[in-house]
Amino acid sequence: MSVVDEIKDRIDIVEVVSESVKLRKTGKNYTGFCPFHPNTRTPAFVIFPDTGTWRCFGACTEGGDVFGFLMKKEGWDFPEALRYLAERAGVELKPQTSQQRAEEESHHRLRELLEAAVTFYRHNLFQSQPGQPVLEYLQKRNLTTEILEIFEIGYAPDSWDATRTYMLERKYSERELIETGMVSERDSGGTYDRFRNRIMIPIRDSRGRISGFGARIVDPEDVPKFLNSPQTVLFDKGRMLYGLDKSKKAIRSSNQAVIVEGYMDVIALNQAGFGNAVSPMGTAISEHQLRLVKRFSRNIVLALDPDVAGIRATMRGLNVARDALDREADPVFDARGLLRNEGRLDADIRVVTLPGEKDPDEVVADDPEEWSRLLEKAKTIVDYVLDVLSEGQDIDDPKVKSSIAGQVMPLIDDVADSVERETYRQHLARRLRVDERALINWRPKRNARRRVKPGDAPPVIDALASRDKDAPLERFCLGLLIENPELLYRIDRQLQALQMERLSELDFSGTVNRIIFQSIQQALAQDEEEPAQYWRGVLDESLHEVAEGMSVDLSHLKEFVGMEMEQPKVADEIAARFLQLRKRSLEENLSKIQFLLKVAEEPDQLGDEVSEIDIVEYKSEVQRHALQKARLEQALARRQGSLLNT
Ligand code: UTP
Ligand code: MN
Repeated sequence: MSVVDEIKDRIDIVEVVSESVKLRKTGKNYTGFCPFHPNTRTPAFVIFPDTGTWRCFGACTEGGDVFGFLMKKEGWDFPEALRYLAERAGVELKPQTSQQRAEEESHHRLRELLEAAVTFYRHNLFQSQPGQPVLEYLQKRNLTTEILEIFEIGYAPDSWDATRTYMLERKYSERELIETGMVSERDSGGTYDRFRNRIMIPIRDSRGRISGFGARIVDPEDVPKFLNSPQTVLFDKGRMLYGLDKSKKAIRSSNQAVIVEGYMDVIALNQAGFGNAVSPMGTAISEHQLRLVKRFSRNIVLALDPDVAGIRATMRGLNVARDALDREADPVFDARGLLRNEGRLDADIRVVTLPGEKDPDEVVADDPEEWSRLLEKAKTIVDYVLDVLSEGQDIDDPKVKSSIAGQVMPLIDDVADSVERETYRQHLARRLRVDERALINWRPKRNARRRVKPGDAPPVIDALASRDKDAPLERFCLGLLIENPELLYRIDRQLQALQMERLSELDFSGTVNRIIFQSIQQALAQDEEEPAQYWRGVLDESLHEVAEGMSVDLSHLKEFVGMEMEQPKVADEIAARFLQLRKRSLEENLSKIQFLLKVAEEPDQLGDEVSEIDIVEYKSEVQRHALQKARLEQALARRQGSLLNT
């Protein structure tokens, strides 16, 4: 049994949840008001002790196991939840390998070095003579001492060796100074301070651990304006967001994250009472960073410069997308990494364009209220793109209409939620002044498909699956995806053809499987590395072993039977497994919601006021599920493979 299973076995989810939610026993389950969204009507939050799961049938329609509950409630990541629950359950976590321990110790020491640097630079800003004019400059920018202290702003003296000498005196080695990026190496040997005469901005990861510095010039003649720590073992600027350690609380409580372009903007916004801002560090925002903030809120607002370069990048990405639009090889949108994410990330991403040449920093300096007003006017990505595309165009020209539809429809198709998708489509139709029905049947032109040779495929998948008789469906499907991440595109296409949502982590029952699935999604969403390699880097180490134990290598298929998974029948059989997976998650949901409906219809038993509206909603939800299930069953019946009765 895995540690996670052992913990689940020992921990009573009812006990954990009831520490923060008032629960009432209802039959063999427990109900209460969902802690994750404001409740006004019927208690729609249910704990199912049998399966060790929880589910909200109200506004948030989320659910999961005890790990997922704590992660959401406390804002923890998986290892944090694991540590907590392991201790609570009295389960010993596998001790680290000696290599892991050595690595952790060395990181710990490097972080101590950086903390010492933070102290040194702060001292220089607040207590040294040369720091005085710098402090005055910051104050002239309306930054209070309090905010400078909160953000631990400092000053690196105008010297080639002040930092170096300070650190060497504190028994840090030259090597460690190089490893943390605090000094640079001379060609002729020796090292010198990387940061000289700069305002020092400590950068911490989302857990508050020091990782590096951003450094702004004091002398306007110096270049570059901002100099960051180099890439080090502690600092990976593409995967972190400045300010997240401080803003995550406000992001969660306001249920919105605002991404701005600069450090100074984050700081100034914070001072003005807008604590939910973060910024990338001189790079275009990456999918990684979006996923990172999404852990705290799915409502993300991008406050972008209104510069032409930004708009161009967006447009270029769109064109690339349109040319490449062939679902077989999912389109790679560049466009600041944003466009396709609306669907895949399951986040609500909006764009604010700033008026004039103003930074957020200047906007709030003039009038803090203006910032709130701007945020309220944020546009959805689809609307933003639509605006950019139609600017200066003659909308009545059929060619223009068709070109805009051709570029915007793929974005709309990428939106995961069917209601949202429909809203966008109506919106587009209105804007283009075309009949909405014309858009419904609109399909992107596809590139010619690679032709596959027809051939009969024996039910090989069965053989593979049965290698491990106990392997449940979830593990098998995950295993396939781990080795063949691109398979997910096909599965999603099939589901969409059946008018169903794409595969999501919610199709898997436990937090561990969900996290593994998400690592696969992330691997697909980047193009730096082979997806089949990449997910390992994303996945927390505590889960590597579990994931590797699942992997099902389809290349064996070739050896076994000289088949390729491209062959239609094999592909079909594989897809059938995933349809079954969906069917199971539908059934699971269905039974849960039927339970709630039953409770709602017997108000005596519950004693609570039950809203008629809720009953109607539950019923329609039951119907929707039943409909989807029927559609799936039909689709499965059409594939007469022998594997369908597993
Ligand atoms: P800005 O030039 O807008 O800086 O660059 P800012 O943060 O508004 O600072 P002030 O208000 O001029 O003092 C925005 C962001 O782009 C990155 C930094 O992360 C900066 O915060 N940048 C900018 C660099 O990485 N290098 C540069 O040379 C310039
Ligand atoms: Mn600025």
